[in-house]
Amino acid sequence: MLGLGVVGSGVARILSEKAESYARELGCPLELSRVVVRDTGKDRAYAIEPARLTTDAASVLEDPEIELIVEVMGGEEPAHQYIRDALGAGKYVITANKEVMAKHGASLLTLAQERKLDVLYEASVGGGIPIIAPLKRDLLANEIVALSAVINGTTNYILTAMSRGEGDFDEALAKAQALGYAEADPANDIEGTDAAYKLAILASLAFHGEVRPDQVYCEGIGGLTNRDFRYARELGYAIKLVALARRDAEGGLRLRVHPAMLPEGEPLAKVDGVLNAVEVEGDLLGRTLFEGQGAGAMPTTSAVVADLLDAAHSVVSGGRERLIWRGEAALRIVSMDDLRTRYYLRMTVTDRPGVLAQIARVLGEAEISIATVLQKATDERVAELVIMTHEAQEASMQRALAELRPLPEIAEIGTFLRVEG
Ligand SMILES: NC(=O)c1ccc[n+]([C@@H]2O[C@H](COP(=O)([O-])OP(=O)(O)OC[C@H]3O[C@@H](n4cnc5c(N)ncnc54)[C@H](OP(=O)(O)O)[C@@H]3O)[C@@H](O)[C@H]2O)c1
Repeated sequence: MLGLGVVGSGVARILSEKAESYARELGCPLELSRVVVRDTGKDRAYAIEPARLTTDAASVLEDPEIELIVEVMGGEEPAHQYIRDALGAGKYVITANKEVMAKHGASLLTLAQERKLDVLYEASVGGGIPIIAPLKRDLLANEIVALSAVINGTTNYILTAMSRGEGDFDEALAKAQALGYAEADPANDIEGTDAAYKLAILASLAFHGEVRPDQVYCEGIGGLTNRDFRYARELGYAIKLVALARRDAEGGLRLRVHPAMLPEGEPLAKVDGVLNAVEVEGDLLGRTLFEGQGAGAMPTTSAVVADLLDAAHSVVSGGRERLIWRGEAALRIVSMDDLRTRYYLRMTVTDRPGVLAQIARVLGEAEISIATVLQKATDERVAELVIMTHEAQEASMQRALAELRPLPEIAEIGTFLRVEG
């Protein structure tokens, strides 16, 4: 095993505690022989015999007695190179690493296939929630139309706390950090990068082609205020950081991660706190929701050990040919400009006659019609205006926003959200 942190300690503990039942399942013992770490002297959540700890990755990757490598060290390098080396040395790999799988999944899976091995990566998306295996196997008879997900626990915790009035963005983030849900540097979560990695992994599998994280349109949750959550509730919506992949009628694929308003009745709108959920829409099955704990030592261990047992089965049975990934399709990624959806706009304007008419004119000229307007006077001179539009084109909306921003009557365009569902 490479790494003995939050996940690695959980895996080591469970392999020891459930050794007998796993041996019965496999017909032979599954032994954790060596663990690679950076610092062998460190205090650990789960102490293993010092003799099994090493800082020498090569000695493990090249050991012919070792048949399976569990990579739970994280980060792009050296984890990516270690996985390549393990496959090169004829070993199955189990990984929880979303960054490596999002950026290098296609080439690693191709290498595994060539070597009649496998890279298993259930824990890389949604922690303990089974979603990779269902996409690989159980949903294979379907053509996947769409994936819609809430797949970042940190941001979902923050947005849920804000929606419940438990503090503003900074307070909710500080609480998430204190509870261990957010890292000291939360940028990857807050800016949507982590969700974009996971969406790239899921979309590659669901749509049978390579999707790179840089092909996912990505916006974070930084600009949201408590007022947006009050207005959303008034209008019957929840605000979530969503990860969406949808195939359009012409076969193009649109991939996006951004905060969005979801109708309160939608299943994803009710996924709260650190929970994650992925909704898959297939042509045969319709919509199915996979929901559960998207992080944490034991939920993630559940996924890692399941993959480990699956790969161990292959080793024990003499390496049956595995169904890995049909990555043959060249996917056409479509631009955000053509997206058609509804929009929410919150702006601060001068409170005098004619301002709303002027805003309506700018939107009208861009072929955007207004569905609802809420106006709240904040003091004598300024009002807060909340506009919900009918369905409009993204490019038109962006043009209208660029025209609205410099108007002297508009003090600020506070929040701009897409409205889904
Ligand atoms: N935590 C979760 O809930 C969760 C959920 C799903 C997926 N994951 C993924 O699981 C992986 C591990 O996460 P984690 O939370 O367990 O991380 P972590 O607590 O930071 O542990 C990382 C471990 O890897 C070791 N390590 C790091 N860089 C190394 C290097 N260059 N050489 C040797 N050892 C190295 C560290 O050694 P030292 O202990 O000696 O420093 C540590 O034991 C990541 O890919 C993460 O994205 C985590």
